[in-house]
Amino acid sequence: MRMVDIIEKKRDNKPLSKKEITHFIEGYVRERIPDYQASALLMAIYFNGMTDDEATFLTEAMLQSGNIIDLSAISGTKVDKHSTGGVGDKTTLVLGPLVASCGAKFAKLSGRGLGHTGGTLDKLESIDGFNVNLDNDRFVAQVNTLNIAVAGQTSKLAPADKMLYALRDVTGTVPSIPLIASSIMSKKLAAGADVIVLDVKIGEGAFMKTIEDARNLSRLMVKIGENFGKKVIAFITDMSEPLGNAVGNKLEVIEAIRTLQGNGPSDLQKLSTEIGSYLVHHAGLTDSLKDARKMIEQKIASLEANDKFQALIEAQGGKLPDLNDYIHTRDLIAVKSETGGYVEKLNALDIGLAAMRLGAGRETKDDVIDTDVGIVLNKKVGDKVEKDDVLAYIYNNKDDITDEVKMVLSAYTIVEHAVEKQPLILEIIA
Ligand code: URA
Repeated sequence: MRMVDIIEKKRDNKPLSKKEITHFIEGYVRERIPDYQASALLMAIYFNGMTDDEATFLTEAMLQSGNIIDLSAISGTKVDKHSTGGVGDKTTLVLGPLVASCGAKFAKLSGRGLGHTGGTLDKLESIDGFNVNLDNDRFVAQVNTLNIAVAGQTSKLAPADKMLYALRDVTGTVPSIPLIASSIMSKKLAAGADVIVLDVKIGEGAFMKTIEDARNLSRLMVKIGENFGKKVIAFITDMSEPLGNAVGNKLEVIEAIRTLQGNGPSDLQKLSTEIGSYLVHHAGLTDSLKDARKMIEQKIASLEANDKFQALIEAQGGKLPDLNDYIHTRDLIAVKSETGGYVEKLNALDIGLAAMRLGAGRETKDDVIDTDVGIVLNKKVGDKVEKDDVLAYIYNNKDDITDEVKMVLSAYTIVEHAVEKQPLILEIIA
């Protein structure tokens, strides 16, 4: 089989066979196929798309390129959740303990943050001593005893995706729905769960900018999951403004704990409860979604979900934080509104970039983050604002943050008329 024939076939918009796709992935991982040919094929896929079957073959080939986590030693239904990335998205920190306290097995491999989006591993590692490097035996044993473990995704999981993603990044081929779907699903399937909820974000702070694209991506990922015998549910959720109020690692841990105690921001509480209900129900723990919702509410009210998070921290070597003496920054700066009115927009991308520049995130993957810094939003879309009201607080350790203050201020659009907030959960595709 010649790679040039595969490229020409895709260029001419003809579907590739499983053999051809496998030949490409195996050859690329073994460095027999050069970057220039792989780039040409990616660009042809970018323009001509892929059928559902092709996307499934691509997912399978990438999945087979590395380790597949064997969770068979875990009794019960394994559940997982994946977010396409956003600003202030600490849902996993809330959701994991929540569903684990309901009896679901939450076996989670997570990643780090890059650019304006945060990562679960960074948030957990901001807790003193928290260890995300668990080997397979320890990971499985902890899920069996505690119902929850969160570990770092190793480079051995779907290595073809890692190589291809790096190439897509420099060839303008990241925003292709079949390439994104197979990239995400190869890693999710390699991680071994039976029930997976995908949180597909749309809006300024997200990969997907329109509901149509989010719908197409969701539909394809659900279909790929189905082809592998997994139950996959996609939530399409709004990321035009950050989720919750806190953006920054320790700040987000505090907000997650408050949410588990029933005192979190309403959007985060709602999303965690809804995704949690689907996971708990499809894990076979309740007869209906309504019952799952009830169970989740009860686990929050009884503090069992909170206790589960504390148990997770201890099990992975972390020291439980004293929330009143947890954040230590040089300054706490209040950003005040220059006008009165109503918040019409709060640009998630601007807030994410401002937090990254403060040191809460990484501009390049080798940057070291400052776990204490970040932004706490005091006003969100729909809120009434008087002149000089505090819009946001900045936790800062840098010498000069004139630009970051400007970015936070300009992230807000304040208008005279009252504004209705759009729903957080836009669609659920199952
Ligand atoms: N996230 C992924 O893991 N892969 C993509 O291609 C895009 C987002």
